[in-house]
Amino acid sequence: FFPTIKELPPDPLFGLKARYNADSRSDKVDLGIGAYRDNNGKPWILPAVKQAEIKLITSDDYNHEYLSISGFEPFLKEAAKIILGTESKAIKENRVVSQQSLSGTGALHVAGVFLKEFYYGGSKSIYLSSPTWANHQQIFRNLGLNVETYPYWNNDSKSLDLTGFLSSIKSAPEGSIFLLHACAHNPTGLDPSSEQWKQILYELEAKNHLIIFDSAYQGFASGDLEKDAFAIRYSIDQDIIKTPIIICQSFAKNCGMYGERVGAIHIINPINSTATLGAIKSQFNKIIRSEISNPPAYGSKIVSTILNDPNLKQQWEKDLITMSSRINKMRIELFNLLTHELKTPGNWEHIKSQTGMFSFTGLSSEMVARLESVHAIYLVSSGRASVAGLNDHNVKKVANAFDEVVRF
Ligand code: LMR
Repeated sequence: FFPTIKELPPDPLFGLKARYNADSRSDKVDLGIGAYRDNNGKPWILPAVKQAEIKLITSDDYNHEYLSISGFEPFLKEAAKIILGTESKAIKENRVVSQQSLSGTGALHVAGVFLKEFYYGGSKSIYLSSPTWANHQQIFRNLGLNVETYPYWNNDSKSLDLTGFLSSIKSAPEGSIFLLHACAHNPTGLDPSSEQWKQILYELEAKNHLIIFDSAYQGFASGDLEKDAFAIRYSIDQDIIKTPIIICQSFAKNCGMYGERVGAIHIINPINSTATLGAIKSQFNKIIRSEISNPPAYGSKIVSTILNDPNLKQQWEKDLITMSSRINKMRIELFNLLTHELKTPGNWEHIKSQTGMFSFTGLSSEMVARLESVHAIYLVSSGRASVAGLNDHNVKKVANAFDEVVRF
């Protein structure tokens, strides 16, 4: 019945997690999936989330009723403010349509379905950074969209290939779709500086390209929600971008609620047109209704409880600093061990300068394979390491193993 069907290899990230789980070596180290771990290598429930859960489930009106198709309105309203800013012009001018989604992945999927049907601004090719998050390609390819790439990472200098990036913006057909990582680029951990962002955004506007911002790590790059939203807010508040902007927002990482699938898609329309905004909202609703009926309630209510309570919001901001500063401390320790103690061949400066959850180590796929087979250290074959998997107990082992595979 299925003559062309073939079994696929395991997903690069979840397959890695399965191999890690099956490994019986007691000193194994998981630097695979981007999920925060505490200094004992354990999942961490953010104190803000714990407190919000108690507040939520003990409130009188707590229940498990269906949400509306758009999602939990008090969540959506605050989620838009988190990404756009409380003083956002777009919010004040009523130019934002928000729809709750199955985290960032669900938001990207809705964006793809929506653009495939309704975007006639130009070419329907979607440009992704090279490299990008492993899932981006298949989310859009599955929908039959044409996927292209733009240069991003210069492997020799371990820095941004700004020239390549800008020239690909210029040479892409007018009105193409560009997906940008709002901050904490996955997998490289390398973000443009604010000056570089400005250049990138001006060039995108000059070619009328449509931007999708994937915002999966707000608060993880700098520990500061405002700073990490720079590119998005600059494009909108300075009126740089005149085309609609799509934002795919995830709370999986910054609230540590990976499995609860809390997220939203926002479209910022350049003008306040009630008819257009209403039409977009109804089309989002149709996509959601046909695919998941209505969004999951629990996670969005927890995030909403945090965002709507000044004390919990303050606690959340502290939690973001706890996570981002522990990751930064690990970056410095790994760098110091490799550079000063072990004198490992190569330059490891990038481990310190990269931001967010990941470091693009520069280790080859052969070195990564050896890390797994000989040292029980798991990272994806691109050499991306989730720095959140390092802690005071394993960082020395990891540094020694990096040193061994580099010299091997
Ligand atoms: C990652 O890149 O490790 C995370 O975004 C987890 C995932 O879903 O791939």
